[in-house]
Amino acid sequence: METRVLSADQPGCAEAAAKLLQAGELVAIPTETVYGLGANGLDEAAVAKIFKAKGRPQDNPLILHIADPDQLELLCHHVPESAYLLAKLFWPGPLTIVLPARDIIPKCTTAGLPTVAVRCPDCEITRQIIRLSGTPVAAPSANLSGKPSTTTAEHVLNDHSGKIPLIVDDGPCRVGVESTIVDLTENTPRLLRPGGITPEQLKEVLGDLIVDKAVTAQIDKDAVVKAPGMKYRHYAPQCQVIIVAGSRERAAAYINSHFVPGDRVLCFEEELPLYKDCSPLTYGSEADAATLSAGLFAALRQLDDPRVQRVFARCPTGGGIAYAVQNRLKKAAAFQIIDAEAVV
Ligand code: TXA
Ligand code: MG
Repeated sequence: METRVLSADQPGCAEAAAKLLQAGELVAIPTETVYGLGANGLDEAAVAKIFKAKGRPQDNPLILHIADPDQLELLCHHVPESAYLLAKLFWPGPLTIVLPARDIIPKCTTAGLPTVAVRCPDCEITRQIIRLSGTPVAAPSANLSGKPSTTTAEHVLNDHSGKIPLIVDDGPCRVGVESTIVDLTENTPRLLRPGGITPEQLKEVLGDLIVDKAVTAQIDKDAVVKAPGMKYRHYAPQCQVIIVAGSRERAAAYINSHFVPGDRVLCFEEELPLYKDCSPLTYGSEADAATLSAGLFAALRQLDDPRVQRVFARCPTGGGIAYAVQNRLKKAAAFQIIDAEAVV
């Protein structure tokens, strides 16, 4: 199969994408977070193609994307006031809300869960595609399962060339990490995955917010967890990734003294001069965490190279969007962290 790449501003792009979705085909769609691999979320056979193309475990449910916030009720029941409030404030945007699923949603979309994850993305072309297709679009991040997410059309082409009919190209993703996921099916809202809408923003609206343990620790692959996707090693290049924490100077001293050929350094822009003998790769500025989130996956994909044996990575601290960057990088590192302050 030939994979076409259509620019979002090309006339007829949304119509072509919607037509393919209606015919049960896969279309890679841009969003503000990452590129998704989309299919008609109510069509079991189409959804099955997503799992096959990604090599995705069957127990990992998909997010349904809607064109307009008021479509939420078509997919969910028992929608609490807090969901409307979040939708009003943050949709369209990088927030996914988990609620009880209506029966129209096939089991393969929710991986058999009684709940469904819904998001209204902040991307004009994709909302137009969803509108024209007349159906919610199931879309995981378009990367092959386990690999770093796709933040450009080229990333998608690298993973799926010849396997899907169409990629809609809307340039690099603005946010760069996947949406925040909040579960509203229990008494207290639960953060299942941090993202572009920060924990601070959520708490301001919701008051209480439990941070699920899958956000902060490695989860056993057989464990029963709220967001099944969070237990898999994720977002990772094929080599070992080690986070080196601590001050700039201590981290540089540690990394420079342990660096051997085959290693790479992933650091903040401000730190490049400290690693001049280690061919460092930067993913953004520590002073502007949004550049780190926008650049992280492209950098991790670049490091996904058989010649790279080990990556020493610098990770931002603190809240806001930096919290989401920490989460992705820690998962890529399977939570392997060396504290350079503690090492002599
Ligand atoms: O930003 C995003 O959310 C991107 C773009 C394409 O919208 N999509 C995305 O999908 O990141 P995916 O499949 O890569 O991640 C979805 C996560 C998985 O960890 C999955 O387990 C979780 O959402 N999830 C889906 N449905 C769920 C549900 N009903 N309950 C709890 N977690 C759910
Ligand atoms: Mg994903």
